[in-house]
Amino acid sequence: MDILLIEDNPVERKLIAAVISRVKGKPLNLQCADTLQKGLDILQALRVDCVLLDLNLPDSSGIETFRRLQAGVPSVPIVVLTVMHDEELALQAVGEGAQDYLFKAQAEGSLLVRAVRYAVERHRMRAELESYTSRLGRHMQLLTRGFSRVARGDFGVRIAGDSDGHDELAALAHGFDGMAEQLQRLSQQKAQFYSMVTHDLRSPIHTILLASGAMEQMRADDAGRAPMVGVVRRKAAQLMQLVDELQEVMFIEGGQMKLFPTRTDLNQLLATCVEDLASQAESRGQRLRLEPVQEDATLTCDSLKIYCVVENLVGNAIRYSVAGDTIVVRASACRPGLLQIDVTDHGPGIGVEEKDRLFEPFFRGRASDAGGRGTGLGLGICHAFVRAHGGSIWVVSEPGQGASFRFEIPRQP
Ligand SMILES: Nc1ncnc2c1ncn2[C@@H]1O[C@H](COP(=O)(O)OP(=O)(O)OP(=O)(O)O)[C@@H](O)[C@H]1O
Ligand SMILES: [Mg+2]
Repeated sequence: MDILLIEDNPVERKLIAAVISRVKGKPLNLQCADTLQKGLDILQALRVDCVLLDLNLPDSSGIETFRRLQAGVPSVPIVVLTVMHDEELALQAVGEGAQDYLFKAQAEGSLLVRAVRYAVERHRMRAELESYTSRLGRHMQLLTRGFSRVARGDFGVRIAGDSDGHDELAALAHGFDGMAEQLQRLSQQKAQFYSMVTHDLRSPIHTILLASGAMEQMRADDAGRAPMVGVVRRKAAQLMQLVDELQEVMFIEGGQMKLFPTRTDLNQLLATCVEDLASQAESRGQRLRLEPVQEDATLTCDSLKIYCVVENLVGNAIRYSVAGDTIVVRASACRPGLLQIDVTDHGPGIGVEEKDRLFEPFFRGRASDAGGRGTGLGLGICHAFVRAHGGSIWVVSEPGQGASFRFEIPRQP
């Protein structure tokens, strides 16, 4: 450790030098100056860890000495050397930022070393605290600005880029960005939701209005009436399904979903679903193939909800894959306590940029251009149902090479 002693009295200088030379352990290097100016010159030229300062020097006296030194080198800790009758002055220096004071008469080895070491440590801690406080202030400003932009509905605001360090302040900035991102996503979902509602609800209502208007003009025995009633019924059923799906999503998002678990044979559930959807696949020239679980296929689950998941996945595979495709529904017990179901098609597959958003409500991807009408709720519902069972759902796909939607659920929820 390098110490600078600023002391004009040669006897005192010698005494302190002698004390320091006798200190055991890590060596202390001592530089001396007999005026304040010489001390300041040394501090400009050399790195010093601590200054021992006599306040009464030939070129400066009293508290002024401390003030001038501190102004010249604010980054170096100062220990004031004083005599008994000048304690008041030493205390004033401490009040203004000196790390400590020592009575010259008592400046023996261990006391001096301890004073210097504590001074250096306290000074370092104070510097750290000051830098932290200034960062805290900066982060508060960033957050205040961020929150006021969010309050104005500007969810594109991000602050982590202006933050520094890797501590809780940086984590706070990242947390803010995560929140803004989430709000931005919700706001985009809301916009998608509104456009879906206006588009998807309006179009069947429009058809119903047209058909019922036409029916009004017809006589009761008019042959054209029956097909019109069929159109109205189909469109009304479509509306009902949409409203049901919306309600499902609202319940899911409001955290109100309830499971009604029963003992279920997964192979049987899959067989029913494949049978129910076979004619839909056939109408598109596709085949469904079921590969059941070879081992024990029983589990406890809400079978209606798991049926709904499989129905959605197979429905998507039929809708988005090509004519002539064989869609495979495969179940397996590859991990203890879990059952896995894969629905694999050979359609357009999923682009990397879509993979992360696929399970968000209202998200419709590129394949949907060719897949016709839909709301983008199917996979969102699947995700919520599987999660409610303590399972997980994901997709394995290379663009252009088909998609394999997979989910895993525990045998016991
Ligand atoms: N098997 C698949 N192959 C390729 N893309 C798929 C497949 N399944 C889903 N997708 C993509 O994922 C998107 C979201 O699917 P999701 O089932 O949630 O909604 P949707 O099918 O568009 O509408 P609906 O609410 O009627 O199901 C689809 O729009 C489509 O782009
Ligand atoms: Mg779908």
